[in-house]
Amino acid sequence: MPETSTFVAGPSYDGWLPGVDHICYGGDYNPEQWPEEVWAEDVRLMNEAGVNLVSLGIFSWALLEPREGEFDLAWLDRVIELLHAGGIRVLLATPTAAPPAWLFAAHPDARVVDRNGTPLGPGSRGLMAPTAPAYRAAALRITTRLAERYGAHPAVAGWHVHNEYGAPVTHDYSVHAQRAFRVWLRARYGSLDALNAAWGTAFWGQHYADWEHVQVPAAAPTSVNPAQQLDFARFSDAALRDCFVAERDAIREHSSAPVTTNFMAGTNLSTDLFAWAREVDIVSNDHYLEAADPRAHVGLAMAADLTRSVAGGKPWLLLEHSTSAVNWQPRNVAKRPGELARNSFSHLGRGADSIMFFQWRASRSGAEKFHSAMLPHAGTGSRVWREVTALGANLGRLAELRGTRVRAEVAVLWDYESFWAQDLEHRPSEGTTHRERVNTFYDRLWRDGHTVDLVRPGQDLSSYRLVVAPASYLLSAADAANLTAYVEAGGTLLVSYFSGIVDEHDAVHPGGFMAPLREALGVWVEEFLPLREGDTLTVGYRAGAAGAGSASTDVVRLTGAVWADDLVLDGAEPVGTYADGPKPGGAAITRHRHGAGTGWYVSTALDADALATVMADVYAGAGLAPSGLVEDLEVVRRTTDGAEYAVAINHTDDDVRMPLGAPATDLLTGDTLTDEAEVPAGAVRVLRTTTP
Ligand code: GLA
Repeated sequence: MPETSTFVAGPSYDGWLPGVDHICYGGDYNPEQWPEEVWAEDVRLMNEAGVNLVSLGIFSWALLEPREGEFDLAWLDRVIELLHAGGIRVLLATPTAAPPAWLFAAHPDARVVDRNGTPLGPGSRGLMAPTAPAYRAAALRITTRLAERYGAHPAVAGWHVHNEYGAPVTHDYSVHAQRAFRVWLRARYGSLDALNAAWGTAFWGQHYADWEHVQVPAAAPTSVNPAQQLDFARFSDAALRDCFVAERDAIREHSSAPVTTNFMAGTNLSTDLFAWAREVDIVSNDHYLEAADPRAHVGLAMAADLTRSVAGGKPWLLLEHSTSAVNWQPRNVAKRPGELARNSFSHLGRGADSIMFFQWRASRSGAEKFHSAMLPHAGTGSRVWREVTALGANLGRLAELRGTRVRAEVAVLWDYESFWAQDLEHRPSEGTTHRERVNTFYDRLWRDGHTVDLVRPGQDLSSYRLVVAPASYLLSAADAANLTAYVEAGGTLLVSYFSGIVDEHDAVHPGGFMAPLREALGVWVEEFLPLREGDTLTVGYRAGAAGAGSASTDVVRLTGAVWADDLVLDGAEPVGTYADGPKPGGAAITRHRHGAGTGWYVSTALDADALATVMADVYAGAGLAPSGLVEDLEVVRRTTDGAEYAVAINHTDDDVRMPLGAPATDLLTGDTLTDEAEVPAGAVRVLRTTTP
């Protein structure tokens, strides 16, 4: 059965901050790093830049509560009043991601302990053991104090709880985690017999006869039971979420403002954001480009699509990205002129109703002094400042986009449990990961101009023309049944190799590899045939044969890598055959009619270029129209009753033309356009068309 909804909002915010009727613009504001006389200048410059929202006090615990139980909120009062007088709203933070030194000194047992038993100390940041009672009590005390004092303040637009749960560590192996893990397991399994069965403890003599003997999966001579590790990943995520929920509920006692916490969608896989999204009032996200990747804007698009997807399609807040270089990658590449706007508009086009940065003013001291900011060390005479103020002015012209929605016709499966399971040791090939296949399929879809949702395999898929399962290794029988029902009802499902292999306990499905998808795909896997590192194989693919009824016999040679399967056909038509490799002559790519829909299977790693040929047929079969756009002209559409907004971003060095279906108004320039729009090299346009 598909689940009916992925999102249960908190008190009726519907994805927005009450009283805000524009696109928000701003960043993290850390005034405590500066003498008080700088604050007034900050507010003046924020006004100049068009800033209307800041995240405040994220790492201020040690100054707000200098000694246990002694509070000094006077300085925060002054900052909030200054911002309020300047018309700038605040997302007030709970500072619990930076526990003060006194807490570490008083409760050394509350430190996070790593897998090798090393406790992680103070002098940095990051939470303490999420299950340690002393940390939890102290976190609630400071949270309650802030909520009491500022809960009804008109400057407070919302609450920014903690900071990036899951970073820098998710997994804690302390004595507190040990105790809490057993409690969690008892609740999950009820009995040791059930735990032993789920974990398959008959293997390697791991049977448990006493709950007290069950451990967190700390360092061991060789790999720890994979089902135990998978449950520990679930438990660790849930333990962090408990911390959030406790702080959120403490805030709600004193404040009706919406509560959020900044996710790291796409870059941190340790927290199940579909579960987290159910707990926040508004989804928000942080994103940083991978500087080593010249096409990092595609990764950005995927992270933004994922954020919108976990938000169930509702608007979301971009709380952090960078104006230029970060400081924590091996080579921190500065953004090129215009890249700041291109990045920002990609987030906006994909559903973000705020564009914010880490951070407002560059820090002089500490670990992040080389990180870019809205106001850089070079001051207001700089390129970055000019781009920041230009962006603020442009976002000021886009208030009508607030709350509009993005609709995707394609979904790619994104399942945290599948990531957690697949990334464990002892897999058939370290050359394949869920993430690599997601990225490759996403890249192909991005280049072909298709907007994508990233979805869980168990959710309602009926609105999508195409669903891609990219190495979806862990797939419960219920989720596989949902995919099968989707095909039966007329959907097109494309499954990549190493999918549907294990159930929720990391146990191989009865009936063999991919057995639960056999009906939908008309094929199953007798044996995996992974390739040696660097080896490739050739697939002869009958291009067009699988398209919308066409019967071309052109055979295209496609290069595959990493993986092959010994496939057994059970009704599927082989449209691609191995020309060489471990099973010459064997089926490599298949298509199967099931019910009113189609199931495709691709058994080797085709790169994004090779995938183009196959995907063209898949699109044709699924009724997806070609976008007709120049590659690297990114166009995303937001819609509302009566209007559609095309956000166009030209990632190329040439001016390009974009055909228009109807006359449009450019909201940034006021120009009216009829048949086509020119998007200059590296530029962005936001085009409104009226819809019936
Ligand atoms: C994260 C954190 C910020 C800052 C930035 C730097 O997103 O939330 O506090 O450290 O990274 O890129």
